[in-house]
Amino acid sequence: MSGFILMLAAAYFIGAIPCGLVLTRLAGLGDIRNVGSGNIGATNVYRVGGRRLGVATLILDAFKGLLPVLLAVQVFPESLWQVSLVAAAAFLGHCYPVYIGFKGGKGVATGLGIYLVLSPVSVLVALGVFAGVLWKWGYVSLASICAAGAIPLLVVVFERSLPLFLVTLLISGIVIFRHRANIERLLSGSENRFRA
Ligand code: G3P
Repeated sequence: MSGFILMLAAAYFIGAIPCGLVLTRLAGLGDIRNVGSGNIGATNVYRVGGRRLGVATLILDAFKGLLPVLLAVQVFPESLWQVSLVAAAAFLGHCYPVYIGFKGGKGVATGLGIYLVLSPVSVLVALGVFAGVLWKWGYVSLASICAAGAIPLLVVVFERSLPLFLVTLLISGIVIFRHRANIERLLSGSENRFRA
């Protein structure tokens, strides 16, 4: 039990590392929270700091989800409940990081890392949804919201696991909730389009 609590705490504290903020500060770009959309995630880092920093943020944020869940699968191979809770801890760390006043990212990249372990086939389809929406409308936020909306259905279809489904509802709900400013901008026609 104490090993599990330790793993939950480690997952949270790893998830809470604000990679985008650290990378942009190291690159001398100041505080990413004051520029662009104000988000510390890969899209805003890409927008403000360019492709290399954006991709580096995407990879690091994804690893914050992938590594704790990969470890949890090794340690608790029989318990999807424990694995799912570790996934939730890493995800909550990213979205509500203790290091920067609990104001973190929107959870898309960290969610990607989590589902690469928990349900790779769902990720594959969700990435298809993401790419299709981005290609058609040009908004990363809209693509993220649609992919987040699709993931619970995909997990039901491909995994048939109650703990996985419940944690997916939590993760998807938080991703969509954290896009509420984007949703307002999409509705008012003022959302930033993605420029490659
Ligand atoms: O993953 C975040 C993305 O969906 C939106 O980012 O910076 O445009 O709010 P941003």
